[in-house]
Amino acid sequence: MDYAAAPSNLKNVKAREWVREMAALCKPDSVHWCDGSQAEYDRLCDEMVKTGAAIRLNPEKRPDSFLVRSDPADTARVENRTFICSLKQSDAGPTNNWMDPAEMKATLMRLFDGSMRGRTMYVIPFSMGPLGSSISRIGIELTDSLYVVANMWIMTRMGKAVWDVLGEAGEFVPCLHSVGAPLAPGAQDVPWPCNAENKYIVHFPEERSIWSYGSGYGGNALLGKKCFALRIASTMARAEGWLAEHMMIVGVQSPDGRKSYVAGAFPSACGKTNLAMLIPPAGFEGWKITTVGDDIAWLKPDGDGRLHAINPETGYFGVAPGTSMQSNPSAMRTIARNSIFTNVAQTPDGDVWWEGMTREKPAELIDWKGRPWTPSSGELAANPNGRFTTPASQCPVIDPDWENPAGVPISAILFGGRRSKTVPLVYQARDWVSGVYLAATLGSETTAAAAGSIGKVRRDPFAMLPFCGYHIGDYISYWLSFQSKGLQLPPIFGVNWFRKNAEGKFSWPGYGDNMRVLEWIVERANGQRDAAENPLGFAPRYEDLNWNGLAGFREADFREITTIDRDAWKDEVRSHEEFFGTMGDKFPAELETERKRLADALG
Ligand code: OXD
Ligand code: MN
Repeated sequence: MDYAAAPSNLKNVKAREWVREMAALCKPDSVHWCDGSQAEYDRLCDEMVKTGAAIRLNPEKRPDSFLVRSDPADTARVENRTFICSLKQSDAGPTNNWMDPAEMKATLMRLFDGSMRGRTMYVIPFSMGPLGSSISRIGIELTDSLYVVANMWIMTRMGKAVWDVLGEAGEFVPCLHSVGAPLAPGAQDVPWPCNAENKYIVHFPEERSIWSYGSGYGGNALLGKKCFALRIASTMARAEGWLAEHMMIVGVQSPDGRKSYVAGAFPSACGKTNLAMLIPPAGFEGWKITTVGDDIAWLKPDGDGRLHAINPETGYFGVAPGTSMQSNPSAMRTIARNSIFTNVAQTPDGDVWWEGMTREKPAELIDWKGRPWTPSSGELAANPNGRFTTPASQCPVIDPDWENPAGVPISAILFGGRRSKTVPLVYQARDWVSGVYLAATLGSETTAAAAGSIGKVRRDPFAMLPFCGYHIGDYISYWLSFQSKGLQLPPIFGVNWFRKNAEGKFSWPGYGDNMRVLEWIVERANGQRDAAENPLGFAPRYEDLNWNGLAGFREADFREITTIDRDAWKDEVRSHEEFFGTMGDKFPAELETERKRLADALG
């Protein structure tokens, strides 16, 4: 291996040794140490275009942007191939796949041996969070995928400055990734190499390392995101007294200039990115919404006793289908340039399209599999999990403090799922324990984009079901422990934008009109709003929300989406009990007490 190419400011012996060992194992033809420069990114993108791995989009329509089509068998996170290999199985808990770490290491050593033959191994030093912030953490990803390098360049702070932050003795999370498709000498590569037989997304929490094999897609391969910033970071956070959460972070500024920040956890397919970039509706003149993050929040108690949050990422890896100038104009403006599109359709003039982008479907397209498409094709033109990767800095409503190394102070925490019945538009949990209860019992109805039968409620505690790096019972206990840390904790709210009426239609307009709820939440958190008490906690009455500018939504409609149907709630609480039964013996007793309190309150 060519050590002359190692950057001169890499002083960390452990990092150097690890790269050397992994290169000896994976046996790439060459090693490229990424410097993270724009020139390097441009060169690597050119190379992807030259090899057919990416298509350059029309520079007039979509400057400096690319379309990539994955192998149709590699289009999403593979939860059933994702493992938490803690030393003890009981530390992975009932919601994670587990395998003995020694056995798993042996399997992985076999798979990674020679896995990068015929390819280049890229060394990506990256920081999750602003470089040098006390909340930030460093990782090094080794990968044989150019697509991963390009995406990591957008999604993380990566490059040679990270070696300076790491210094001689700094800690880093080793992240090893291979698409698992070695190239024989002279063999022709395919546009999206991956391994059809074997996929392993593996976390070793005690070692704080990640090994990912066989997939090049999203959270399976961009290891800074779900693997590091949620699964490994959640274990770090528990050991160190902070929280790594699947939350967006949004700034809410009132007309008198008062600024509050709200963090919110929502399962996939609940419009989290839209909420993070909400445009206030008519009637909310003077209110300003700004985006800090769309997917992940790291929250840490600060000297002032409040939780401060950072977004550890620098880009959005957003679901493209459904994104439009109506649903999310700020996202559409963000992706106008410098973006990578994966598994969406291509227009005849070299731009991109997906279902929901325009009301009218284009007359012809190339679909996400690269085949000619017309509206009569009878298939979706874009994969439902088609994505854009785009720099956060391009977001027109980015918060001025989104890179503040101290984070932003959080005034309220939201939890929301997709529930057509039962769960009201908004309520405030009565205290921290009942807030943890509402988060632990969070449920969302499955959509067409997710596997499983449509419309079934899947419990997704804290929206962390596939992302919690340790036993979910321990995780919930850890959240409960915050009540005795002497902190000024933010109030917790449940929200549901998805209630349907008797005709099966959404009753709540959602999108920008969620501002009406957000306004009540921040003002309630600041002690400025009244509420009525109900068995779940506190909720606004019709007259407590601002209805300026919303025509045709009457008090009766409000009642329809806020009424607590006691019988439905009794069933709901029974289903909580069933769910608690699957959580094993580490499930905190305090939540069972809270469940009984709720059951009693419902009569
Ligand atoms: C995501 C997810 O991709 O939550 O962000 O599934
Ligand atoms: Mn997510």
